[in-house]
Amino acid sequence: MKDIDWSKLTFSYTPTDYMVHCHYGNGAWGELQATKEMTLPIHVAAAGLQYAQQCFEGLKAYRRADGTIGIFRPEENALRMQASAKAMYMPPVPTELFLKVVTLAVKKNIEYLPPYGTEASMYIRPIMFGTTPKVGVSPASEFEFCVIVTPIGPYYPAGFGTTPFVINRHVDRAAPLGTGQYKVGGNYASSFRATEPAHEAGMGVLFLDSLEHKYLDECGGANIFLVKNGTYCTPKSDSILPSIINRSLMDLCRDLGIPVEQRHIPVEELGEFQEAASCGTGAAISPISRITDPDNGVVYDYGEDAGPVCQLLYKTLRDIQFGRSEDKHHWCYII
Ligand SMILES: Cc1ncc(COP(=O)(O)O)c(C=O)c1O
Repeated sequence: MKDIDWSKLTFSYTPTDYMVHCHYGNGAWGELQATKEMTLPIHVAAAGLQYAQQCFEGLKAYRRADGTIGIFRPEENALRMQASAKAMYMPPVPTELFLKVVTLAVKKNIEYLPPYGTEASMYIRPIMFGTTPKVGVSPASEFEFCVIVTPIGPYYPAGFGTTPFVINRHVDRAAPLGTGQYKVGGNYASSFRATEPAHEAGMGVLFLDSLEHKYLDECGGANIFLVKNGTYCTPKSDSILPSIINRSLMDLCRDLGIPVEQRHIPVEELGEFQEAASCGTGAAISPISRITDPDNGVVYDYGEDAGPVCQLLYKTLRDIQFGRSEDKHHWCYII
């Protein structure tokens, strides 16, 4: 194992030894290649660069209590990447190939997988983009599918932290019938103008539905859920990324007897919830202390400490991911 102070890792890129990639040309995927070189020679007119013909994924591998290594629900990431690829007019990476490349990338960099007990894990980033040089506006015929990995620290080395959020009605993350439900780079580049100023002020951004700016959509890089009198509520929207963690939390709620509602949530209802949190692969659950609505001068307060439902769901999910409790849904893919 590498000599890394695992407790000091944050959610940033620590270089590892190998990337694994695979080229698509002449209508077929080629052989996998594991290379120590992390750069690829790409024509500057590549469709991925010119027209953002690309998509990506994010998932994690964990060293578990029994010494095994598990990746959390990679088949779901494979399916979501297939949907993103189709939306970007790219050939989807078959699930079997996705799992093979992801597994090889973890195994080739196994010395960077944090030890069990540190609560740190390995972030896996699959990326796909068009490489055919294009000047006329049309899609590529050749593509590269790459997977890089990096060790990342526990989000909460000193216990759950809470983050304040701010509603932004002046930047839309995704258009109705647009690409919000896909994990494509353009969604993120175009939201930086909203998220970066908020981050500088120590806040996350909550986007609303872009048609009416009436209902909650999601956060810049995570879904949102709220708790009202013991019920887990999360927005229903065609333009938010279908979060695998959010779906898992809804399943855990059902296991735990917590009622679940997935529905439109109007902004004015924010005052009726006792807990709020963003959820996604990065932090699993990130409790929200308050949501500011600057256009209406209202602040919805959820407290500086994580509420009981957030805490219960966080512990339940983490125990499954780290193999400390039964994985009855078969979410962990042991490699
Ligand atoms: C925009 C957006 N929403 C939600 C999520 C959460 O999805 P998941 O739970 O699959 O990580 C992500 C990624 O983490 C995201 O980028």
